[in-house]
Amino acid sequence: GSLKMFVDELPQMPKLLGYSYEEDSYKPCSLTIGMYEKKWKFHRDLPPTTVFAFGTSQATATVPGPTIEAIKGVPTYVTWQNYLPQSHILPWDPTIPTAIPKNGGVPTVVHLHGGVHPSGDDGHALAWFTSGFRETGSTWSKATYTYPNVQHSGNLWYHDHTVGLTRVNLLAGLIAAYNIRDPTLDASLNLPSGPKFDRNLMIFDRSFSTDGSLYMNYTGIVPSIHPQWQPEYFGHAIVVNGKAWPFIRVQRRKYRFRIINAANARYFNLFLSNGLSFTQIGSDASYLPAPVQTQSILLAPSEIADVIIDFSTSKATNIILKNNANYPYPNGSSVDNLNSNVMKFVITPGNPTVPDTSTIPASLVTYKASTTDAAVATRYIVLYEYTDSSGSSTHLYINGKRFEDPVTETPKSGSTEIWQVINLTADDHPLHIHLATFQAIKIQKLTNVTQFTNCMTQNNDAIACNVGSHLTGSLMDVPATEKTWKNAVKISPGTQTSVVVKFNLVDTNSPYPFDATTQPGYVYHCHILDHEDNAMIRPFQLV
Ligand code: C2O
Ligand code: CU
Repeated sequence: GSLKMFVDELPQMPKLLGYSYEEDSYKPCSLTIGMYEKKWKFHRDLPPTTVFAFGTSQATATVPGPTIEAIKGVPTYVTWQNYLPQSHILPWDPTIPTAIPKNGGVPTVVHLHGGVHPSGDDGHALAWFTSGFRETGSTWSKATYTYPNVQHSGNLWYHDHTVGLTRVNLLAGLIAAYNIRDPTLDASLNLPSGPKFDRNLMIFDRSFSTDGSLYMNYTGIVPSIHPQWQPEYFGHAIVVNGKAWPFIRVQRRKYRFRIINAANARYFNLFLSNGLSFTQIGSDASYLPAPVQTQSILLAPSEIADVIIDFSTSKATNIILKNNANYPYPNGSSVDNLNSNVMKFVITPGNPTVPDTSTIPASLVTYKASTTDAAVATRYIVLYEYTDSSGSSTHLYINGKRFEDPVTETPKSGSTEIWQVINLTADDHPLHIHLATFQAIKIQKLTNVTQFTNCMTQNNDAIACNVGSHLTGSLMDVPATEKTWKNAVKISPGTQTSVVVKFNLVDTNSPYPFDATTQPGYVYHCHILDHEDNAMIRPFQLV
């Protein structure tokens, strides 16, 4: 059976201040956040679900976890603690590179997605730890992470990043938002603000069994090779801030929504049922140079859209936030009655209780331009399936290399590079690069993709496979809503997407205020979590 939609009110996740305010100034602050097993109600009519949740205690832990509010330039220290049980609540696959503690427990390590911080604070995939730090992974070094918040203000999120378990640890609930604010900029922009009118929406899909438990297929796609691993997890229910198909009462005024796609593999192409448009002001952790009016917002896993919706212009009083993205994106199944609905806005009639004095400025924030002139290196990053001798497609590698193979990407700290990202698969992949910010500047269709793929699976070398001879296809536009410094860029099937990558701070063009060249380095990967785990992920090391 299916659950009734729009019966639960949209929750506001608890907020944790990553700073303190004393004597008219912002001071650094230390937080302790644990990971707990607990029961969570995803829907009025669904029995409680066992989840893994972030919180300052088991009683206050939530799915998603508490939103951390940070201030630009003011460091936040977080001590991450693991209180998880001896065994996982979801099936995991020991045949992919995976953290497997000798004495049981659920390995976890937390990554701040979009954060600019030393590699020891990055939540490296091998820096995992089990309950009470009883066992730790090979690159584990400390319990307390420093987030300097030195970058520009914007929207980030934090989540588990354990090797081989990221898809199940996030599916279990280890996700949460992190906002960096800039009080001076915020005052000058005068966008809708305050906890009522500036909200985080964390959207993901889950399937549930009738007893309330999270449902995940226990049989892998090639059971003889991977007994549990499946190439993509798709759930039937759409969950926002921890409730399936919630509703929110809104006034006739402008609201700001920071929309995070926290799904494992599902893309959302969001639109409003009455044709009302969004005004997009930011993408991932950056503002757009100017607001962009749009009817729909396409978000790959991990992408964030910062939007304004003005309900004062709506004639309808009930508006559904809808989704029409095929899954896998773009060539998979069409959405159905369940996963095409996200949440409902119920507009309170009459004027807002307090007049709406917020505005949408004509221009927002202009960062350093994305010129290629500064680029000191060009790299080819090729995404394709690795097929074993039996003909089974069993891994999704980058450049045909495993995660544990030696580092091949060694950019200079502070430099800018061009990454030519080539997608030879039938699906779109969101490329995420830790520490760096980057943007697509050119998207070109490849020709003779099959021939190129055959060569790549033999040679694993784009230049040896004469990549230039395949770059004769048409050009595609970079959407206006994505022309800014991103943390994930969608790579369309059959294209080469040219990406400018800055391994320094975007708005100052200065080197990091810390040594970014220390071990264990960083990673880049596909943010479809099932791909990342098997194993569309590679290390990189700044030098
Ligand atoms: Cu959002 Cu490497 O992750
Ligand atoms: Cu992928």
